[in-house]
Amino acid sequence: MHTSDPVLNDAEFARFKQFILSEAGIDLPASKRSLVQSRLSKRLRHLGLDSYSAYWKLLSDPRGQAERQRAVNLLSTNETYFFREPQHFHWLEQQAQALRDQRAGAVKVWSAASSTGEEPYTIAMVMAETLGLAGNWKVCATDINTKVLAAAKRGVYPLDRVRRTPPRLWQKYFLRGHDEYEGMVRVSPELARRVEFSKLNLLHCDKFQQTDFDIVFLRNVLIYFNEGTKRDVLARVCTRMRDGGHLLIGHSESLHKLDLPLVQEVPSRYRFEAARLKSGGAK
Ligand SMILES: C[S@@+](CC[C@H](N)C(=O)[O-])C[C@H]1O[C@@H](n2cnc3c(N)ncnc32)[C@H](O)[C@@H]1O
Repeated sequence: MHTSDPVLNDAEFARFKQFILSEAGIDLPASKRSLVQSRLSKRLRHLGLDSYSAYWKLLSDPRGQAERQRAVNLLSTNETYFFREPQHFHWLEQQAQALRDQRAGAVKVWSAASSTGEEPYTIAMVMAETLGLAGNWKVCATDINTKVLAAAKRGVYPLDRVRRTPPRLWQKYFLRGHDEYEGMVRVSPELARRVEFSKLNLLHCDKFQQTDFDIVFLRNVLIYFNEGTKRDVLARVCTRMRDGGHLLIGHSESLHKLDLPLVQEVPSRYRFEAARLKSGGAK
């Protein structure tokens, strides 16, 4: 931030807060005002605007769709890494084996807030190791943020970002960069082509073309939603799941008292029971 940057006043903060709440369900507390200011300030400078109100004018213009998407990209938080919360991946390995042994048909996994791709590529590595690189499985990865989706599709990461990946996997699934890519790795094309990326807003995910997921990773995104949004999003996510399928959430997140057709198996892992839908929710 520059000292000459305009200050985001209360009324302006209230507008951007309402904007990102209605666009993405992200509920920003008052304590995030300086974060919003610093994330938008670069954009103001780039556009040569001298106030947040002038930027708001651009966003509220009916022709401002591209700028609205940019603002969503700037206001969403995208921190992630390979093998984050590793217990989920140990469980995924066992569950993928169990599903393969139980029934015919593809094992379908959805990374529903996939950010820059580390989570879906980690899932794909585990699936490839368990069911084979050409095995009968599918990984879908979605996010609302078009910038992180583009980075995810590129699949190029600084070496230090893949630190948590077991060495035997990274030798198999990453290519080391040379020359201008020195210090970087790229996800191997064979693995990358097993992950299908698309843009999807979780507020509208009941419209997602893909259904019958066996496993949904919905991790470290519910923390940004208020209770009402959380409940709505989860109810919609359930419509995309196979009966008996599993939902994984972040370790710091909870679904306490949300009255959903989801039964907790262990902290941060839930089973979807369609019968509870018909009987009006989880008990
Ligand atoms: C902190 S990252 C979590 C990444 C990964 N799931 C993990 O646990 O490492 C949160 C992601 O949620 C996405 N997100 C926020 N609101 C969303 C919405 N309404 N629909 C889809 N994605 C959303 C953000 O763009 C961001 O990439």
